Amino acid sequence: MMSARTARVLMQSGRSARLAAPLRPLHRSLHSNPKYEYTKASFTGFLKWSAIFAGATAFAFYTVDSRSAIHQYIALPILRLCTDAETSHRLGIEILANGMSPKQRQEDNEIDPNHLLEVTIFANSKRPLTLRTPIGVAAGLDKHGQAIDGLFGLGFAYVEVGSVTPEPQDGNPKPRFFRLPKDDAVINRYGFNSEGHFAVMGRLKQRLLHALGHEQPQHEDTRHSLDKNKVLAVNLGKNKTGDEVSDYTQGVTRFANLSDALVVNVSSPNTPGLRALQGEERLAKLLTAVVAERNKVQFANTYTPILVKIAPDLSESEIVSIAAAAKQSKIDGIIVSNTTIQRPEHLRSQPYLSAETGGLSGAPLKPIALKAIKTLRKNIGDEITIVGCGGISNGKDAIEFARAGATFVQVYTALAYQGPGLPVHMKQEIVKELNGKKWVDIIGADVDVKKE
Ligand SMILES: Cc1cc2nc3c(=O)[nH]c(=O)nc-3n(C[C@H](O)[C@H](O)[C@H](O)COP(=O)(O)O)c2cc1C
Repeated sequence: MMSARTARVLMQSGRSARLAAPLRPLHRSLHSNPKYEYTKASFTGFLKWSAIFAGATAFAFYTVDSRSAIHQYIALPILRLCTDAETSHRLGIEILANGMSPKQRQEDNEIDPNHLLEVTIFANSKRPLTLRTPIGVAAGLDKHGQAIDGLFGLGFAYVEVGSVTPEPQDGNPKPRFFRLPKDDAVINRYGFNSEGHFAVMGRLKQRLLHALGHEQPQHEDTRHSLDKNKVLAVNLGKNKTGDEVSDYTQGVTRFANLSDALVVNVSSPNTPGLRALQGEERLAKLLTAVVAERNKVQFANTYTPILVKIAPDLSESEIVSIAAAAKQSKIDGIIVSNTTIQRPEHLRSQPYLSAETGGLSGAPLKPIALKAIKTLRKNIGDEITIVGCGGISNGKDAIEFARAGATFVQVYTALAYQGPGLPVHMKQEIVKELNGKKWVDIIGADVDVKKE
C-alpha cells in the first residue's frame, strides 16, 4: 500500500497528475483526519527538538573539553580583540574561579598509561612529593588564590598561587600588562598587585573547609592540593615599602600550614630593589631566616619545602652565588626563571610595545631561561629540585628544559595564547617524544655537572 507521504508528494508534484488521481481520496481522507494531523505535527516537533537538543549537548560537550579548538582559535582571539590584556586576565580568572572553564576530559592514566611522566620533586628533602605529570602553572596567573581548582581541572599537577604580599597593595598604575602577539610574548609591570596575606589565607582555609569539613588537613599525608599526585604552592612577595626579611618570614608563618610548598620570590623586576636580594649574602640571610621560620611554625610531622625563584638576567658568577646560598640555607628548590628585563633584538612586535617597561615573558624568554638553568644545573647537580619556567609552549620545550636540569616545568604566557588545552597537549606530546623513556631519565641529560 502507498504511504500518505508518497500520495502527498505525487499530488503536489503536478507532473504525475494522472498517476496521482486515484490517490486523491486517500490523501484527502488522511488529511481530514485530525488524529493524523496531530500525530504528524507532534512527530515533526519531536524530531526538531531532538535535533536541537542533540546538537546543543554535543556542542556543550565539545566546549567543556579543554582540548577543543574553539578555545584557542575562536574564544581567545575574540577576547584579545575585544579586551585589553588585564581585562582578559581578570575574565579568565573569573571563569576558572566559578567552575565555568573547560576541563581535561581524559584521565592522566589514559594519556600516560605507563606512568612515564610521573616524577618525585624535592627528592632529597624530608618531604618528597610525587607529581603525576611534570606540568605546572607559574605564579602571577592566580595571584589571589581564586582559581586553584579550575587550574587543577585543566590538567596541571602543580599550581602556584601569588605572589602574595603581607599587606594589600594596588601595584603599578594601569595600563601595566601588554600583549606582543607577533612574538607570542607579553610584558607586565603589575608590581605585585595583591589582596594581601589575610585575604588569600581566608580563601585557602575556606577551600579546605569546603572540601574536608575543617580548615587543616588532619593527616600529615594530606596535601593542600587535595590530591596525592598534585601540589599547591604559595609564592611570597614583598610589599613595595616592606621589610626584606620579615615580609617573607610573615608569609611563612601564615602559609606554611596552608600549602604544600612555599616560594620566595626575589626576582620580580617590578618591585624596586627586589632583585638585589639575589646577592649571595643577602639571599643566604633571607633564606636562612625563612627556613628557620618554617621549622618553627611547621606542625609536627609535616614539612613544607621552600623554593626560591630567580631572574633569568644573571651572570654565571651570580648563579653560582645563588647556588651557594641555596645550599647553605638548605632550601629545597629553585625556580628558573621569572620574566626578563632584556629585549632580544629579534622581537617582531612594534617598537613602542617592546619598549614598555616591565618583565618580558613567553617565547623570547626561552633561550635566556634555558641558559640560566643549564648554568645552575652545572653548578648544583641534582642536590636541589630545579623548576623550569620561561617561554615553554609545548611538549618539546618542556623536554628541552628537563634535559637542561628541570625536574618539572611551569607555564604562563603560552596558556594565555593557547588556552585551556595547553597542559593536555603538552602531556600528549611529551609522551610521544619520550618514545617509551621515562621523564625522570632525561632530567639533566644535556648538562655535565661540575666536579667539586
Ligand atoms: C602577567 C604576569 C604576572 C606575573 N606575576 C608574577 C608574580 O606575581 N610572581 C612571580 O613569581 N612571577 C610572576 N610572573 C612570572 C611568571 O610566573 C613566569 O615566571 C614568567 O612569566 C615566565 O614564564 P612564561 O614565559 O611561561 O610566561 C608573572 C608573569 C606574567 C606574564
